[in-house]
Parts: sequence; C-alpha cells; structure tokens
Amino acid sequence: MTGRGPLLAALEWQLAAGVDEVVGFEPADRFAPPPERKAPAAPPPASRAAAVFARPAAETAAPGPAQDAAGAGDLDALRERLLAFDGCALRKTATTTVFGEGPAGARLMIVGEAPGADEDRQGRPFVGPSGRLLEQMLAAIGLPREDVYIANTVYWRPPGNRTPSAEEVEACRPFINRQIALVAPEVLMLAGGAAAKTLLGTTEGIMRLRGRWSRFGTPDGSIDVMPTFHPAFLLRSPARKRESWRDLLAVKARLESAGS
Ligand code: URA
Repeated sequence: MTGRGPLLAALEWQLAAGVDEVVGFEPADRFAPPPERKAPAAPPPASRAAAVFARPAAETAAPGPAQDAAGAGDLDALRERLLAFDGCALRKTATTTVFGEGPAGARLMIVGEAPGADEDRQGRPFVGPSGRLLEQMLAAIGLPREDVYIANTVYWRPPGNRTPSAEEVEACRPFINRQIALVAPEVLMLAGGAAAKTLLGTTEGIMRLRGRWSRFGTPDGSIDVMPTFHPAFLLRSPARKRESWRDLLAVKARLESAGS
C-alpha cells in the first residue's frame, strides 16, 4: 500500500478496536520527561493564620454527588446539578450529557444502560437503532414514546460503547435514583442486565430477572419494576422478542389496573 492507504487502514483498525473518540486536540508526548516539580512556597503569614482557623474538611468540602442530586426539587434542578457535576470520568470523553426526556408525570419510565454514539451526538436517550425498536415495542402496547420518560443509568457515552465501570455507575447512581423519585412513575421498566443489576442492587443476570416484578424504593414509597431485555440484545437475538412481548403485556396490564 502507498499514499493514504496505510494511514486509512491504521485508522480503520483503531475504529474496529473501539478507539472512536478524540480525547484531546493537542498531541501528547508520552515519552517526554515529567516537568520538574518546584518545592511549594511557604504560605504567606495571612494564609498560615487562615489555615490554623480553617473549618474542618467535612464542613468545607464541596458537596458530593449524593447531596448534589438529593437536594434537587424537580427535574430541571436535577438537570442543572448534573450539568455542574464533574465526578464521573465518562463526562470527559463524551460530546453531550444525555439527561433523559419525557413528561415529568409519566406513568411509565424506562431506564437503559448508557448513551451510544447516536445519543451522544443528539443529547437524547434511545435515538439510534435500539431506540427505534424501543419505540415499536411501546407502540405495540399503545404507548407513544412521548408519553414515556426515558433515561439511562449513566449520563455520558462510554468510549467505544464499552460497559460503564462500577465507579462510573456509582458516580451517577444518586442522580438516576433522584430522577426516578422525581418522575415517580407507576411502573419502572429496566432495559437490560446492566440497568437491572444497578437499580435492583443484584448480581443476578437478566435471563433470571426479566419478567419478574420487583420494587424500587424511593423516599416517598416504592415503584413496581419490570426488568426486561435490552432492545440492542433483541436486535441481535430476535427470537427473544417473544419473552419481551410477555414483559410488555405485563407492564400494560399493570398500568391498566393502576389506572382503573
Ligand atoms: N442503549 C441504551 O442503553 N441507552 C440508550 O440511550 C441508547 C442505547
């Protein structure tokens, strides 16, 4: 190969390996020696006095994610707090924050795993191929997407669509917990094993969890939860749609009985 061929092949190889994000616009010289560290200058007298009378760390520490999220009185406030939150490493590589969308009083809320490439570009959850299938599934039980609140367990796309790490999920957990409590749906549907494990606090796999009603506790009570397969899994394994259909019918029946 000559000219651009080898370069394109190298780029394609990186893409296939999942390296599809630019994390900085300046090249980093990873072989350069570390910069010399200067000894810290002694604090000026005034700041030494301030240090003596400094308040204890617990009082002065910046609020953590739990306080950030729990103090939000509505979804707009929660979004503001999430946008100001930099405690999740995923934020650094993502293009946008995918907060979630839907009516505040939605009767059904769906939580997926993490935004993908399409969601990262548009800043909206479930807008790619999985989203299209999800919309068809909802339509099959008579629910327009616009009536459903949709979010994810993490708010930023993991590079290369990898599974979010335990730390990333934990960093986002106070926000999704609060979001569910604020939407307060009658039924919470968890799409896929990652969302089910995170929000039900279990290590059981989706094959065992799906189709079985569970409860999600909030400060104001608890919500019916139906774990089901992720639409991305159904796109790869269409034969499993039969079980998903049963889960959807169970959700529909629960909403109908709650509404009557
Ligand atoms: N998969 C998810 O779990 N969430 C999205 O928003 C898109 C794809």
